Amino acid sequence: FIRSLSSSAALHAAIKHVTIIGGGLMGAGIAQVAASTGHSVVLVDTSEDILKKSAKGIESSLKRVAKKKFAEKPEDGEAFIQKILKNISTSTDAASVVQGTDLVVEAIVENLKVKQDLFGALDKAAPEHTIFASNTSSLPIADIASSTARLDRFGGLHFFNPVPMMKLVEDTPGFIVNRLLVPYMLEAVRLHERGHGSKEDIDVAMKLGAGYPMGPFELLDYVGLDTSKFIIDGWHEKDPDNPLFAPSPLLNKLVAEGKLGKKTGEGFYKHK
Ligand code: 3HC
Repeated sequence: FIRSLSSSAALHAAIKHVTIIGGGLMGAGIAQVAASTGHSVVLVDTSEDILKKSAKGIESSLKRVAKKKFAEKPEDGEAFIQKILKNISTSTDAASVVQGTDLVVEAIVENLKVKQDLFGALDKAAPEHTIFASNTSSLPIADIASSTARLDRFGGLHFFNPVPMMKLVEDTPGFIVNRLLVPYMLEAVRLHERGHGSKEDIDVAMKLGAGYPMGPFELLDYVGLDTSKFIIDGWHEKDPDNPLFAPSPLLNKLVAEGKLGKKTGEGFYKHK
């Protein structure tokens, strides 16, 4: 949606100010993409510490983009980075930020009640024209939107990690990618739990045999083990008899130990 806006002058004029709620990997990535397409962006989270980390992540991602884009002229790369960074500010006060925003994109924890509470509160603070969108990867949009009085201005906007690199945004019901990808990743964990292959062997097999850029364990670490668990637990609760959604003891153990993947330095693998 945001990406297509960049190619449509008319729509671009309609949405100038974007608020992103949630400064994690996804929220920071969405803020970066929205700022790169000329929008004025406020990134909101609950603490200054999280926002500092998000800003650092955006800057290092922009440096990677600039290194490629301006390989011949690095000085232009620095100007490119500064121009985009100028479009982004941060805040811990969502209710006051949304008073001047055209679009809110939420990328917080994958929990229906928490999302409903957030949008319920924002609905009271935001102007009538503001469009609400959720980056949910597994919850029905209508369920989230039910806490607001703007059902006709509420949509799904599901990005993929790493947001600056992945060219897909889903806004159709059904969440095609995660519906296939999450059971696939969990099936890899189950294969390993049954002792049929090491994590390393399964990852190498999928990279060499199926041409995937990352194996399933690498991808789980990249996406976040907590996020993957939230998704699978939510689906399991709705459809407990579906074996594709069965919980994984190994995944649950790692999450309980705080090993959430790349972001905490350890998940299935150790990360620098
Ligand atoms: N920002 C900017 N540029 C980035 C980047 C980022 N965060 N990550 C990678 N890049 C670019 C850089 O230009 C990098 O070059 P550099 O090393 O010189 O900086 C280039 O990509 C290549 O990166 P790498 O050499 O580190 O590694 P890869 O060639 O493997 O590419 C990848 C990285 C694009 C992440 C690739 O491994 C990939 O596509 N992996 C699969 C990702 C995927 O499946 N995502 C979907 C997950 S599901 C999801 O998000 C849904 C959610 O709801 C759970």
